[in-house]
Amino acid sequence: MSQLSKIREKASTVKKRVLFPEAASDIRVIQAAVRLSTENLAIPVLLGDRSEITELANKNDVELPVDLEIIPGSDPETEDERFQFFQEKLSHKNPTEEQIRQLCQNPLFTAGWLLEKGEGDAAVAGSVASTGDVIRAALRTVGVAEGSSIVSSSFLMEMPDGAVYTFADCAVVPYPEADQLASIALDSGKTHELLNGKEPKIAFLSFSTKGSASHDSVSLVQQAFSIAKQKNKVWKMDGELQFDTAFVPEIANRKAPESPLKGKADVFIFPNLDTGNIAYKITERLAGALATGPILQGLSKPYMDLSRGCSVDDIVNTACVGVVLSS
Ligand SMILES: CC(C)(COP(=O)(O)OP(=O)(O)OC[C@H]1O[C@@H](n2cnc3c(N)ncnc32)[C@H](O)[C@@H]1OP(=O)(O)O)[C@@H](O)C(=O)NCCC(=O)NCCS
Repeated sequence: MSQLSKIREKASTVKKRVLFPEAASDIRVIQAAVRLSTENLAIPVLLGDRSEITELANKNDVELPVDLEIIPGSDPETEDERFQFFQEKLSHKNPTEEQIRQLCQNPLFTAGWLLEKGEGDAAVAGSVASTGDVIRAALRTVGVAEGSSIVSSSFLMEMPDGAVYTFADCAVVPYPEADQLASIALDSGKTHELLNGKEPKIAFLSFSTKGSASHDSVSLVQQAFSIAKQKNKVWKMDGELQFDTAFVPEIANRKAPESPLKGKADVFIFPNLDTGNIAYKITERLAGALATGPILQGLSKPYMDLSRGCSVDDIVNTACVGVVLSS
């Protein structure tokens, strides 16, 4: 059974509420919600105008289940409550009343507000909005998780032989500082453990292995490893390592014999976005990996991002990942 099938199965056993703030403008979102509902994978909640959603569904011959929950994307009845919430969240920025009113009208922000209130377990957006807009809505509502210093992302990489790896960060933080890279590694370990049910083995990747080269970028990875190690003494982690030393036991044995990973790392932390993004796309295209993500992490509640080119299947899978991360 593929890892994604296992994640879908796990989602169906916990059945959580997933908020969809883009339902009124994207038929794929409605189709995914119908599948989640009819296949008993989650409880979808569509945010948007009921008549617009129904009209879009009718136009595309999609039958909405009678019990499918549809709530307003910007309910006038709760506008005062949302206004106060956003005003408090943004107080350090001195926003104008007009700026806060705009957030109150934005379903991406309403979804984050509902998540924060506990009225949803995960939110899924990004088939219409850009990644930046989804992250901004998440940051200004649920915010950064306690213990994390930055919001980042990881990809679940499922190989044709069934092996599963986590790659990070491939989509959000261009050039992390050492403490941010440490936070990305620990959050990726958490994501890996929740999605795969296995303790992560984390490699901080570099073009150097244990001081074989010296450069500012090598020192940054060494520092990040040392910060992460201080914060988590349980998980197996090592750095800085070249990819082959992290991945091939015989090479690990030769180049880093003391490494606790022993060439069996399954969470790969890239020093910056260039390397992470290039690596996941190469693995996808040359090795035939199935890449699921970007999975946003470091947020206090799962607010999931989609690619604008996503399929209905992708939305269903992303919602199930959000459900499992919220468990
Ligand atoms: C994350 C992102 C949305 C922030 O954009 P922004 O709003 O212009 O960023 P700013 O620098 O003005 O920061 C706004 C606030 O968010 C915070 N912030 C920005 N990025 C953050 C992150 N990754 N984690 C936590 N907080 C972050 C800033 O500290 C700032 O906080 P403040 O309001 O308390 O001062 C932006 O970096 C982005 O779009 N990243 C995604 C990149 C992308 O598109 N990737 C896909 C292709 S690979």
